[in-house]
Amino acid sequence: MPDTLTITDNRTGKTYEVPISDGTIRAMDLRQIRTGPDDFGLMSYDPAFTNTASCRSAITYIDGDRGVLEYRGYPIEQLAEKSTYLETAYLIIYGKLPTANELEEWTHNITYHTFVHENIKKFLEGFRYDAHPMGMLVGTVGALSTFYPDARHVDDPDSREMQTWRLIAKMPTIAAFAYRHNRGMPFVYPDNELSFAGNFLSMLWKMSEAKYQPNPVLERAVQVLFILHADHEQNCSANAMRSVGSSRSDPYSATAAAAAALYGPLHGGANEEVLRMLTEIGDKKRVPEFVKRFKSGEGRLMGFGHRVYKNYDPRAKIIKRTADQVFEITGRNPMLDIALELERIALEDDYFIERKLYPNVDFYSGIIYQALGFPVEMFPVLFAIPRTAGWVAQWREMITDPEQKIARPRQVYTGARGCTYVPLGERG
Ligand code: CMC
Repeated sequence: MPDTLTITDNRTGKTYEVPISDGTIRAMDLRQIRTGPDDFGLMSYDPAFTNTASCRSAITYIDGDRGVLEYRGYPIEQLAEKSTYLETAYLIIYGKLPTANELEEWTHNITYHTFVHENIKKFLEGFRYDAHPMGMLVGTVGALSTFYPDARHVDDPDSREMQTWRLIAKMPTIAAFAYRHNRGMPFVYPDNELSFAGNFLSMLWKMSEAKYQPNPVLERAVQVLFILHADHEQNCSANAMRSVGSSRSDPYSATAAAAAALYGPLHGGANEEVLRMLTEIGDKKRVPEFVKRFKSGEGRLMGFGHRVYKNYDPRAKIIKRTADQVFEITGRNPMLDIALELERIALEDDYFIERKLYPNVDFYSGIIYQALGFPVEMFPVLFAIPRTAGWVAQWREMITDPEQKIARPRQVYTGARGCTYVPLGERG
């Protein structure tokens, strides 16, 4: 049987044969289907891209029905158990696990780009004391483009490499500075002797001690959370990164757009909303009442449901296990009991079963972040730091893909046409 699709246009009676490859047809192959010479040709209509592949990608594989997630072919469970965040970032960006030398060089390059220009401090100080740290992150990462004008040279592989190091290295510094600004605390400079996660904790929590020593269990928990959040194929923020980057703007501006997309409560802001929701529920006994509300459309059960996963999000499983290790050090977060009860009731409820709504990555991550001492506003920032590796990988893949062009969707126009301008005084 040929790998083709035969389409009959009942308007004209004509038949067309279009090739199928990788389970897709090319939307441009529909354009030949026309009713006459004045017809623009058939388009596909897909609001929110629910069934449209916008690129070919070799970075992250998801099987949403089976709950499978792999970075470059490596199962997330193995990486969360055995890898470090920087090694995983290397894998995601370069497509293979590094050798010992490559890892050392990569770690060195990231570690030696963690400092930010002193003016970035002044820039951050310009924000109000209660500015949302995610808003500060979005603004500040965008501002990096003014510090590194060479980043415009997106077609130069050396420039791309340099911006890759800078972006991954500076995100934790900006994030920690945003946090310290909110708290009215002095900024703590990076400590190059610590690991990527350890240094981040030092920049957040260090006070008057000469050297901050992270608790190894908590440091590892942060590494695991960073690994789990490193990439997730064509999600809303990756799509923003690719779309903005496709106009050949610099990667800092594109990352600001990606972080802005992540900020929203339906994406990376969901972890913040989960904690607000759990706090509002307040007691296990009130869970059934809230589940009823979510079913009636009064709000959503935040941290549940996913566009791609129609099964338990594998990241949520790992996070649940990590929570137990964290709680041994920090003490149990009472929010966990409410979350477990919510999960239990929702997973037995027909509404959630029929719609295949399961806990996603954001359901349990906030409970750990809170136990670690983070205010809820920092949760999306904690998502953005590791996701930078994914954004950069998606951007690099897009820039070097000969099939890609400036992202520019079509529309179905539904507005008025041919109106005649009426002067202000003559309008009714
Ligand atoms: N609570 C209650 N009902 C829900 C939920 C939920 N969390 N999620 C989906 N539904 C219902 C929705 O009302 C719809 O019902 P119906 O068919 O009767 O209209 C059905 O399930 C399908 O939902 P959808 O909105 O068409 O699905 P989507 O693929 O467009 O949305 C989602 C995916 C993640 C935006 C959505 O599930 C949601 O809003 N979840 C809560 C927010 C959340 O946890 N986001 C984090 C996602 S994972 C991490 C990340 O991407 O950053």
